[in-house]
Amino acid sequence: MALLLGAYLLGSVSSAIIVCRLMGLGDPREEGSGNPGATNVLRIGGDKGKLAAGVTLAGDMLKGVVPVLIAHALSFEPVWVLLVGMAAFLGHLYPVFFQFKGGKGVATFLGVMVAVNFWAGLLVVATWLFVAKVLKISSLSALIASALAPVYLYFISGELSWVVLTAAMTVLLFWRHRSNIGRLLRGEETFKRTR
Ligand code: G3P
Repeated sequence: MALLLGAYLLGSVSSAIIVCRLMGLGDPREEGSGNPGATNVLRIGGDKGKLAAGVTLAGDMLKGVVPVLIAHALSFEPVWVLLVGMAAFLGHLYPVFFQFKGGKGVATFLGVMVAVNFWAGLLVVATWLFVAKVLKISSLSALIASALAPVYLYFISGELSWVVLTAAMTVLLFWRHRSNIGRLLRGEETFKRTR
């Protein structure tokens, strides 16, 4: 229970807001897409964009990695390991420190996957990077990678509780991307946009 709460609180810390503040880049919730995430930090960061986005991505991934590794180290049952990761993911989406208005969850989702099952997580990250490289649309790469995550987990780990809970996280991730999905369907999703 303490680890679930700790994971949620850690997930509630916004890397994007902290990095932007430290690097003098303003508030990612007020600029670009308004999303406090690595893609928007890259979008609004100008010359410092790549570094700021990299640090944001790493910070948000670690929010998923650290609690899950602790759960593994404490020999939690598989279902609890994923629930701890889910708590961090929910913290990022609905942060207690920011009036429950958080990000879209991609980096934290990736971190949880890598820490829950390294090989399945690596495949999810590789899918995300590959689709982003080929199609150059961050949201679409996240949607495809997260949709495949339960499939990868099923074939690599065979742990059904992980498959079901990851599918639930994927549904939430899609929900948080509903405006992106609308633009994708209309062919209007571009990197340089405001909302
Ligand atoms: O990481 C979030 C990404 O999938 C979409 O972000 O800012 O383009 O809506 P954004």
